[in-house]
Amino acid sequence: MAELYYMNIEDPISAEDYQTLLGTCASDKREAIHKFRFEADRKRTLYGEVLARFMITKKTGAAMPDIEFDKNSYGKPYVKDQNEIFYNISHSGKYVVCGLDTEDIGIDIEEIRDIDLDIAKRFFHVKEYEDIISREIREQAHSLYDFWTLKESYIKFLGVGLSKPLNSFYFMINGESVQLCSQEDHTVYFHRYLLQDNYRLAVCVSTPDLIHMEKISLHDLVAYIKSES
Ligand SMILES: CC(C)(COP(=O)(O)OP(=O)(O)OC[C@H]1O[C@@H](n2cnc3c(N)ncnc32)[C@H](O)[C@@H]1OP(=O)(O)O)[C@@H](O)C(=O)NCCC(=O)NCCS
Repeated sequence: MAELYYMNIEDPISAEDYQTLLGTCASDKREAIHKFRFEADRKRTLYGEVLARFMITKKTGAAMPDIEFDKNSYGKPYVKDQNEIFYNISHSGKYVVCGLDTEDIGIDIEEIRDIDLDIAKRFFHVKEYEDIISREIREQAHSLYDFWTLKESYIKFLGVGLSKPLNSFYFMINGESVQLCSQEDHTVYFHRYLLQDNYRLAVCVSTPDLIHMEKISLHDLVAYIKSES
C-alpha cells in the first residue's frame, strides 16, 4: 500500500530543530538548500528530503543519514541500490508531500490560485481545455488544477519530465472517476485529494490499493529523528 505524509512549512521552527533536520541530509542537499534565497524555498526542499528519509527509515530500518539517493537523467530522485522502495516529493505553498510505494509513484500538489485559462489552452490536451471551459466560471480554477495535478503526477510517475508533451495524453474526469488516455502500454491508478479547499493533490501509482495518508507535525518529526539517533 502506498503511503503519503505531508507537512505544513508554516509551523514555526527553532534554530535547533532546523539543524536537527539538516543533520539527516547529505552534504550536497544541505548546500542546495543553503543556496535558496527565500526561507520558504529552503523549508520546502529540506522538509521534502527529511520526509522521504523518515518514511524510508520506517520501512527499511536504515538510519536516516545513511540513505543514499540518486537521480535519473530527467532529475527524478530514487533510493540508490534499492528496487523495492520508490518515492516522490511535491511542494506548493505551505504544503510538502512525500509519497512512498513498492513500485513507481508520482505525486503533485498545487495551491489553487486564480489562473489564466490560456495556460490550459496552450499546454493541455484540447479535450481537457474544453472540459474546463464547459464548467461554471467559479469551478474553472478547481477544474484546471484537477487536470494539472493529474497530468503532473503522471509525468512524475514516468519520471520523464517535460520531454513528454502535456498535450500528448489526456484525462477524462467524471465525478470521482478518472480515466487516462495515453499511448503508453501500462495500467496506472490515480487518487485525488483536496486539502483545505485550496490545495489539489494527485497521486499516480501502479496498483489499485488504497493509500494511507497522514499529516505529520514538525514536533513529531523532530522527536522521531532524536529517538533514532
Ligand atoms: C521537475 C518537475 C517534476 C517539477 O515539478 P513542480 O510541479 O515544479 O515541482 P514539485 O514540487 O511537484 O516537485 C518537485 C520535486 O519533484 C522531484 N523531481 C524532480 N525531477 C523529477 C522528475 N523528472 N520526475 C519526478 N520527480 C521529480 C524532486 O524531488 C523535486 O523536489 P526538490 O526540488 O525539493 O528536490 C517537472 O515535472 C516540471 O518542471 N514540471 C513543471 C511543468 C509545468 O509547468 N506544468 C504545468 C501544467 S501541468
